[in-house]
Amino acid sequence: SHARISIDRDFTIAEVPHRLFGSFVEHMGRCVYTGIYEPGHPDADDQGFRKDVLALTKELGATVIRYPGGNFVSGYNWEDGIGPVGNRPRRLDGAWHSLETNAFGLHEFVDWSKKAGTEIMEAINLGTRGVEAAREIVEYANHPGGTYWSDLRAKNGHRDPFDIKLWCLGNEMDGPWQIGHKTASEYGRLAQEAAKAMRLVDPDIELVACGSSNSGMPTFGAWEQTVLTHAYNEVDYVSLHAYYQEHDGDAASFLASAVDMDYFIESVVATADSVRAKGKHKKHINLSFDEWNVWYQRGSDDEDQPEQVNNSGWREHPRVIEDKYNVTDAVVVGTLLNSLLRHGDRVKIANQAQLVNVIAPILAEENGPAWRQTIFHPFARMAELAKGQILRTNVVSDKVETAQFGGADLVDVSATWNEENGRIALFFANRGLDEAADVEVALRGFDAGRVTRAEVLRVPEGGDRFTRNTLHAQDQVGLVPLNGVKAAGDELKLTLPALSWAVVELE
Ligand code: AHR
Repeated sequence: SHARISIDRDFTIAEVPHRLFGSFVEHMGRCVYTGIYEPGHPDADDQGFRKDVLALTKELGATVIRYPGGNFVSGYNWEDGIGPVGNRPRRLDGAWHSLETNAFGLHEFVDWSKKAGTEIMEAINLGTRGVEAAREIVEYANHPGGTYWSDLRAKNGHRDPFDIKLWCLGNEMDGPWQIGHKTASEYGRLAQEAAKAMRLVDPDIELVACGSSNSGMPTFGAWEQTVLTHAYNEVDYVSLHAYYQEHDGDAASFLASAVDMDYFIESVVATADSVRAKGKHKKHINLSFDEWNVWYQRGSDDEDQPEQVNNSGWREHPRVIEDKYNVTDAVVVGTLLNSLLRHGDRVKIANQAQLVNVIAPILAEENGPAWRQTIFHPFARMAELAKGQILRTNVVSDKVETAQFGGADLVDVSATWNEENGRIALFFANRGLDEAADVEVALRGFDAGRVTRAEVLRVPEGGDRFTRNTLHAQDQVGLVPLNGVKAAGDELKLTLPALSWAVVELE
């Protein structure tokens, strides 16, 4: 098969948003406990943070990390996680049917984030709590001192404010499964009032209102319309969440999941802008895609994929949704990253859910090693190389017929141009299961003679599209050199192997 792509130095979309390569740490399963935090682990530091996981987090290139949930946050008292660890209460976490020890809380996450070099995106509980708790946590985190909550922070060991800029106003409040689920008007008013009270404490914070939990929600569209009609002036972003999986062996539709992501993003932009027009507002509301990934939620015939929630008893950090990702999943993740990047004019924040163990690019065994899943690789390369300006990509590609989305481009792409070092980076996916794709790229306005990076993730020798990285074969799937890439002046030629994700960087 074949694809012709054009980019043009003058056709830019936006600067690559730094927060596009975010991740997510929820008190869920083994993401916190035995994920980022395991005091008894041989590789733990003096605070109990796993150094192997910290090193992989840095290599992944995550920039901003959402915390502490997720569904968990809608039943969480943030005060349970502060003060001497011995005094912290043990609680039932209804969202994930787990026992929460609260050994890890806000101070620990702040310290961990400093070590990881990541920004904090803090979610507040708008399920069981409201305006009062919302403004108190901002005072605790950001007020310099001389008040009850800021002095308590100092007493608990942090004299300097945490200075958390980015806050989520609850989580998935449109979902009937959410603790304290609300209608759009109930939530819109609560988000508005919580935002107002939080900003009265710290006017410099940025706020994300909950949008829809996925584009298939019955309230999708109407939810955003109502919530933003109430809270337009008070918030800066509206959130989107989406998880994709292969259904009944329909790999073609699964590989075209980014078509849904494109549709979802463009629909939310249109809805936000319609509220802007109707309300005669000046500012734009941008998008925070603060949960996205592949997640095998239903119908998995693979016994390796654990149950979503194990209801057999209340346990500390049970194993939940520790999906093991294969080659196909990595190619899909690459296309989802392409979709986010292509919409970088409006999607300013995105968080892959989650960071470790729970539907994550990093797996970590209790008292054992940590390693990279297949999906780690496209994320890490894009976080490293997608710098500067996002370029518009014009694609004329052979199509693949899909049951869910009709004809989808066989070759998917996004591109950036880093004016500082003069480098162009192109991120390709070949959705074709059996055929290689010949790709020609017209590099208008560029003179690129040297290929500085050419790597591909593909089915490894002796493997198939289901091959994964496991405890005993941690590097079966990774990036290998992509041979035969030819760049001359304003033209680039390459061949993408069947079912592959590739990066080419030029100067
Ligand atoms: O990331 C896993 C869960 O998915 C989150 O807790 C929730 O917000 C979403 O439904």
